[in-house]
Amino acid sequence: MTWRADVLTLFPEMFPGPLAHSVAGKALEKGLWALECLDIRDFARDKHRTVDATPAGGGPGMVMRPDVLAAAVDEALAGEPGGRRVVYLSPRGRKFDQDMAREMSLQPGLILLCGRYEGVDQRILDTRGIDEWSIGDYVLSGGEVAALAVLDAIVRLLPGVMGKPDGLTEESFEQGLLEYPHYTKPAVWEGRAIPEVLLSGHHQRIEDWRRAKAEETTKARRPDLWEHYSRAGKD
Ligand code: ADE
Repeated sequence: MTWRADVLTLFPEMFPGPLAHSVAGKALEKGLWALECLDIRDFARDKHRTVDATPAGGGPGMVMRPDVLAAAVDEALAGEPGGRRVVYLSPRGRKFDQDMAREMSLQPGLILLCGRYEGVDQRILDTRGIDEWSIGDYVLSGGEVAALAVLDAIVRLLPGVMGKPDGLTEESFEQGLLEYPHYTKPAVWEGRAIPEVLLSGHHQRIEDWRRAKAEETTKARRPDLWEHYSRAGKD
């Protein structure tokens, strides 16, 4: 079965956007995954196609109505054998990471709800068992850019999408480390030479050097990852 994403959004024209290009785009063309967009506005019931209302209790901005969202979510779930999770993108959500991307790549797909304005009525999340994911501690103007990031991270892990499976398992985050630095031609550029070991042809020494660099960078930049990595090594 093809891995399938349904995106519920007020801006369906933002999709596939960058996912139509490069790795994800080629995979989409080959049918290695599928993308459907539902325009939330199509589920509004009044003649003005209203999707939002003022927040109960007052305050700034507008909130997306649960009845309109429910119609959209239920449509995406209709005929679903119960396999796909529904996720709402929001800065309040669980922080999305490589483990979650890998886990999702093994599932049948995903339904992503993108909010705009101040967010969505809490009752849609509570009644439909919707998870909340964040892509980082900053506020985007809507969930669409987050949905694109989440989909890109998952799709490249699907079978057949990336050339060699080796390239993926060797990848830094798969090992809990940041990536080692890369070099290519020319051998000397602006007075800087490629580290000699990389030109030695000695595979073991190259591997050791890369591992040491990855560890050094992780330790310096991401003490949180380093802590996790060094603890795992001791078990
Ligand atoms: N919507 C707005 N900001 C977001 C974030 N940081 N992550 C996911 N969805 C969002």
